[in-house]
Amino acid sequence: MSGVVVSLEEAGGRPKKGQPASIKPLMDLVAPDMERVNQLILSKCGSDVALIPEVARHLIDSGGKRLRPMLTLASAVMCGYTGTHHVTLAASVEFMHTATLLHDDVVDESDRRRGKLAARMLWGNQASVLVGDFLLGQAFRMMVEAGSMHALDVLSHAATVIAEGEVMQLGTAQNLETTQDEYMEVVRAKTAALFAAAAEVGPILAGSPKSAISAFRSYGNNLGLAFQLIDDALDYGGSSQVLGKNTGDDFREGKVTLPVLLCYRRGSENERTFWREAIERGQSDDSRLEEAMRLMREYNALEDTLARARQFCELAQDALATFEDSAHKHALTEVLEYSLMRAS
Ligand code: IPE
Ligand code: IPE
Ligand code: MG
Ligand code: MG
Repeated sequence: MSGVVVSLEEAGGRPKKGQPASIKPLMDLVAPDMERVNQLILSKCGSDVALIPEVARHLIDSGGKRLRPMLTLASAVMCGYTGTHHVTLAASVEFMHTATLLHDDVVDESDRRRGKLAARMLWGNQASVLVGDFLLGQAFRMMVEAGSMHALDVLSHAATVIAEGEVMQLGTAQNLETTQDEYMEVVRAKTAALFAAAAEVGPILAGSPKSAISAFRSYGNNLGLAFQLIDDALDYGGSSQVLGKNTGDDFREGKVTLPVLLCYRRGSENERTFWREAIERGQSDDSRLEEAMRLMREYNALEDTLARARQFCELAQDALATFEDSAHKHALTEVLEYSLMRAS
């Protein structure tokens, strides 16, 4: 996908000239808090049932960008919060995410995650699902510890919406008649809901006015939508090594993502037959994956998916526009650019 340049440059709020956008400014700003989040995460993985920390630590120690908890930490501090519960909620957000990944790799029958074998390949589907449940339970206990009913409401609602998204996706998989609206609804639920909640609970803890809470929710939601669109493009145009998971998985699983939808709708009748055989009837060997990539180039499917992602990043940027300039605001803006850059 090299050569796809997607930049928010004209929109302002950029990294310094000549430097690629990065999540580093955000990481640096929240580093001391994130250290506490990581400690808390490790301590809450503990259980007398030895298999639980073993499976949980496999995934947690493999890293991950920690993007969602960083949103919670940064949004809380940006809104003037001075307590410690943002650390608790950030850990609970990352636990929700980790639980989702454990479950998702079972649902998607994925082999690799964060550059390693997926937990299910080492301990099986049953252990993966159950340890995911444990982490979700721990996430809720931490939400209660944080003591904000409002934040508990937002995060618990996100947990139900994520599950709805994953179940909705069962209905769109292998169904090329899925509309773009239905696809976006799945993305909103399975991915954007957690980004939105992660960003929203910061100002909630800070006791910010409704307008600020909505603004951060909008930032998170739109970043989340863009993030999943980019992830879906990278599944065809990215590198397995960089992503730490196998590219081409969506094709092999018959997932109907935006790049596929665009090609299917823009293609000839013969090409639509190809997509039906591949996506609906599972004829998805490597030579067919190559043909799929060729069609994606022919119909600009990845570029157009990224253009859509860029629009959502612009919405996210606009959501924060009325906040006064600060290092946190700049770092959150740079995250948008970084997300788009991942795909260039
Ligand atoms: C992966 O999310 C799941 C998607 C929403 C595409 P991340 O790319 O944030 O995963 P980690 O935590 O960095 O591994
Ligand atoms: C990621 O979804 C998990 C959720 C957001 C629930 P995907 O299945 O699209 O992403 P990867 O490719 O496994 O990370
Ligand atoms: Mg998956
Ligand atoms: Mg999935």
